[in-house]
Amino acid sequence: MRAHWSKLGFILVAIGSAVGLGNIWRFPYIVGESGGGAFLIPYFIAILFFGIPVMLIGLAAGRKFKGSVLTTLGKINPKIKYIGLIPVIVTLAILSYYLVITGWTFGYFIFSIFGYMSFDAFTETLYPLFLFFGAVALIALIVKLGIKRGIERTCKYLLPLLFLFILIILVKSLSLPNAMEGIKFYLTPDLSMLSNPRIWLLAFGQAFFSLSVGFGIMLTYGSYLSNKENIPRSAFTIAGADTLIAILAGFIIFPIVFSFGFSPSAGPELVFIALPEIFSVMSFGQIFGALFFLLLFIGAMTSAISMLEVGVTILIDERKFSRTKATILISSIIALIGLPSALSYSGFNITLLGRPFLDSMDIIFGSFLAPIGAISLCIAIGWFWDSKKLLNEINKNSKIKIPYLMIYLVKYVIPIVLFGVFALELLKLL
Ligand code: ALA
Repeated sequence: MRAHWSKLGFILVAIGSAVGLGNIWRFPYIVGESGGGAFLIPYFIAILFFGIPVMLIGLAAGRKFKGSVLTTLGKINPKIKYIGLIPVIVTLAILSYYLVITGWTFGYFIFSIFGYMSFDAFTETLYPLFLFFGAVALIALIVKLGIKRGIERTCKYLLPLLFLFILIILVKSLSLPNAMEGIKFYLTPDLSMLSNPRIWLLAFGQAFFSLSVGFGIMLTYGSYLSNKENIPRSAFTIAGADTLIAILAGFIIFPIVFSFGFSPSAGPELVFIALPEIFSVMSFGQIFGALFFLLLFIGAMTSAISMLEVGVTILIDERKFSRTKATILISSIIALIGLPSALSYSGFNITLLGRPFLDSMDIIFGSFLAPIGAISLCIAIGWFWDSKKLLNEINKNSKIKIPYLMIYLVKYVIPIVLFGVFALELLKLL
């Protein structure tokens, strides 16, 4: 018998998957680069009309066919089974460098207690490599323990802690001098930015990444979902919690950044370069720094678990591997392909296409191929599974019914818009 999440367990593992580096590290700097509050408008639209529908079809397909991405697509129609490899390869490739950053967050947690090393000095050492291996081993151990004893139990303990840490840091951040400056920047929409297509692209990409949709994660987690669960309510709860945490992360980061005179558009380094400098001079900075990086680490870990589970479930369902064997195999592959990312800023100076290896992996898989993964799932599920049956499965236990309009979004609008995102990313690369 296939294991099932408990009711609360499922919501927590799915929120654990959604809430991660995307919310706390990526969201604030993207808002910062996109001129503040204006970004929230396309972001909400992307969550509501793009992210949630793709989440709904993933959960419904997984629950109905009770199998991994490949097994489920194969049951919908044997001809489309291997389309599932696209999102799976993208997810595992993203996991390989996501775990490098997860390792950094743990490193910075330790630094926050014993004193910070500059980002350059840190990444030149072999610490990132060891931290990466540690992160791979840790998530492998949790996934090996299984759906309930490993993943569900980890998320049940860690997610309440994550919420608590956010609230503590939030109070501190909002009480800083000049906190209002940061909040004004965050909440004042510069509406002229909305005519810039780049903002919309960033919003779609960020919404998918942050909700963990289009990666086969929700489909995989859905395959362990009981038939009694209310899918629309779960999807709105997961998306609501994920969005709330991203927004709160903004209320944490911007007051801190403005209070200490940093630029909000410092890019990806905002968290690893600007914040440690700030924590080292802030009152009780040691405690708040430690809480912040631990928070980031927990978020990253619970997301990484879900990405690993995508590959592990495939080997279990398709090749009848034991969970232990499947976990060892997939995590060894991740350790191998993540190696150049872990070493990319080190003395070995590993590059790809003229950039540090990790940055290129993020561009190729995180920005460029991720929409292709999502398009594949929309097409495979939206076009090949009978639309009425799909909608019935989604609405099965729900009083509030998702309208048929969603099917049009999944079949036409989302793939076309995502293809636009892909084409524009391609143009940027050329
Ligand atoms: N959804 C995960 C995140 O936001 C991947 O980091």
